[in-house]
Amino acid sequence: MHRSVLYYLACLPVHLLVVAAPTSNKLHNVHYGNGNVGKFWHISDLHLDPSYHVTKDRTKVCLSSSDRPASDPGAYGDYMCDSPYQLISSAFQFMKHESPQPDFMIWTGDSPPHVRAEELSTQQVIDILANTTHTIRELFPSLTVYPAVGNHDYWPQDQLPATTNEIYQAVAKLWAGWLKPEALATLREGGFYSQLVRPQLRLVSLNTILYYGPNNVTENMTDPTGQLKWLRNTLEASRQNIEKVYIIAHVPIGYLPYAMDTTAMREVYNERLVEMFRDYSDLISGQFYGHTHRDSIMVMLGRQGKPLGSVFVTPSITPWKGARDPYSNNPGVRMYLYDPADYGVLDVWQYYLNLTEANREGSSAWTLEYSLTQAFELPDARPQSLHKLGLSLAQPQSKAFHKYFTYFMVSYNDTITCEGYCKTIQICSLMFVDSDSYSACMKQQSIL
Ligand SMILES: *[C@@H]1O[C@H](CO)[C@@H](O)[C@H](O)[C@H]1NC(C)=O
Ligand SMILES: *[C@@H]1O[C@H](CO)[C@@H](O)[C@H](O)[C@H]1NC(C)=O
Ligand SMILES: *[C@@H]1O[C@H](CO)[C@@H](O)[C@H](O)[C@H]1NC(C)=O
Ligand SMILES: *[C@@H]1O[C@H](CO)[C@@H](O)[C@H](O)[C@H]1NC(C)=O
Ligand SMILES: *[C@@H]1O[C@H](CO)[C@@H](O)[C@H](O)[C@H]1NC(C)=O
Ligand SMILES: [Zn+2]
Ligand SMILES: [Zn+2]
Repeated sequence: MHRSVLYYLACLPVHLLVVAAPTSNKLHNVHYGNGNVGKFWHISDLHLDPSYHVTKDRTKVCLSSSDRPASDPGAYGDYMCDSPYQLISSAFQFMKHESPQPDFMIWTGDSPPHVRAEELSTQQVIDILANTTHTIRELFPSLTVYPAVGNHDYWPQDQLPATTNEIYQAVAKLWAGWLKPEALATLREGGFYSQLVRPQLRLVSLNTILYYGPNNVTENMTDPTGQLKWLRNTLEASRQNIEKVYIIAHVPIGYLPYAMDTTAMREVYNERLVEMFRDYSDLISGQFYGHTHRDSIMVMLGRQGKPLGSVFVTPSITPWKGARDPYSNNPGVRMYLYDPADYGVLDVWQYYLNLTEANREGSSAWTLEYSLTQAFELPDARPQSLHKLGLSLAQPQSKAFHKYFTYFMVSYNDTITCEGYCKTIQICSLMFVDSDSYSACMKQQSIL
């Protein structure tokens, strides 16, 4: 028997015992049927481009296209550009209409546009963060939103420091309505915090930009602003207090699904975080990230290959296509369903806007793209289920993999296929988050 289960049996109040023991699919269906399920929204990578405007000269539509011509600009945006305000506002209006009273919302960063450093400033970054914050608060006045800082939430971009600065201080003011003084204190100093969401659920918002390759100011530091030490202490305290933990951050752990042998953050930090998340996997019921702008899943395996963690990377609201990207994505927002008894993730409901259609129709018909459990016939989104999904996607000619890859681009174009090398890196990044196991996967897959 798993150590954590024993611990729980000994310590938890009686009503929590039911799901601390292994649950069957049937039980989850009952949960659904009774509506006894928690829900929260996840948004990421809004990338508001205030310069966006539809005009005849396609190179002048937005600064974020950096002189590339816009492809088919309309009121809701363009695949070459970051989000016009109308796109962002349509997303929140849809969310409010779809589920006005979720339990909370997580927001994994990146509000400013992809533009040259000269086209922004510290003040403009703060103004944009104030704009997105106020937009959310206007539509969801009584909802608690848990933000994480992104690599674009700073000027110059990526250079988030390990010490207090104007921007950490500004967001601590902007987010004071959502966060408690203790959380604001560490946010102000280092851009991270933790806060109790429910009596037995703690949310930890990490500043993973301190570990991001392009961040020059943290280059040679071993534990910028002591965040790793703080994280271990926080997780240890959660274990003592019998709390479950959700980890949120902008830059994810693991390997990029679209590049070979490339971790999203510096490799040494990836190893250290994975190590720590394994040590506390009995507490960590979910990890939620953004930054790649694509929809992907990872399963964190233990050292012996046992599925221990569910890791979700949400796609962006911005449809922006990087200069070297072979394709873009439609704007997306998502809802997670969770088991209120042990905070295990039960499902992902991914919503999206068909940007081409929205521009053509002059209205925004945000709609459900897929439900994870229905699309892939899974009982839930717990680590075991995600592992099973990974194994099935890895099969040659897997139809489910084509579906997974189409969702990866938020249904941008379902005729684009991903085979051979493209599929290998997708599968290895889904199944393996540390250097040794990922390398072994790449070797094995390339022989096949
Ligand atoms: C955000 O900025 C847009 C312009 O880009 C403006 O139209 C909108 O009113 C602003 N919203 C808030 C809440 O500040
Ligand atoms: C960061 O360092 C790299 C390599 O030295 C350099 O090319 C880049 O301009 C630096 N970026 C900033 C914002 O200082
Ligand atoms: C980090 O160390 C390298 C090698 O010693 C040095 O060249 C570089 O300037 C250092 N970077 C910082 C930000 O101190
Ligand atoms: C998006 O809309 C365009 C234009 O109406 C259509 O051609 C395309 O098939 C739609 N995409 C999806 C995934 O429905
Ligand atoms: C979708 O992808 C296919 C294959 O790469 C390409 O031929 C087609 O032009 C794309 N469609 C759109 C609307 O971009
Ligand atoms: Zn981004
Ligand atoms: Zn980012």
